Amino acid sequence: MKRYRKHFNNSFQRAISPDARSFYRRFYEILISADPRIKDLFAKTDMDRQITMLMQSMTHIMTFSATLEPSDEIEKIAVAHGKNQLNITAEFYDIWLDSMIKTVDEIDPKFEGHIETSWRVLMAPGIEYMKSFCKK
Ligand code: HEM
Repeated sequence: MKRYRKHFNNSFQRAISPDARSFYRRFYEILISADPRIKDLFAKTDMDRQITMLMQSMTHIMTFSATLEPSDEIEKIAVAHGKNQLNITAEFYDIWLDSMIKTVDEIDPKFEGHIETSWRVLMAPGIEYMKSFCKK
């Protein structure tokens, strides 16, 4: 049976253990090398701080998938990425998710098709919520 929340939770645990920071560090390497425009966006960023911020915000994304009610934290992050602020485009969100899938493929030894689907399904509500601020 395709139980995507269970598959996602198990894969996420494998991906972040024993060292969560190395998963996120590799994710940012892949994201930044995916597109020169994204490399430019992070040119002056303190990546150690950025990794910490993303580790925390992944929890907000997962909670949003469970509740479909945006927390104050996820709303703030979405506004900060949105129109007239960071101006992150829908295309960049797609590259972001593809980069995360590539990272899981590298790091989760049990990665396969249904694991990829479970990450895409679980991330989709948060990504769609964030994307809705591209136009606001
Ligand atoms: C679900 C997707 C995403 C989440 C959860 C997320 C999360 C975050 C968080 C928590 C911060 C730190 C905010 C702060 O400093 O207070 C941040 C900053 C940032 N994000 Fe995202 N982000 C996402 C998608 C993206 C995408 C798609 C891009 C562009 C490709 C992007 C580019 C940036 C940039 C440029 C910053 C500012 C870095 C700096 O301070 O120099 N983010 N993001």
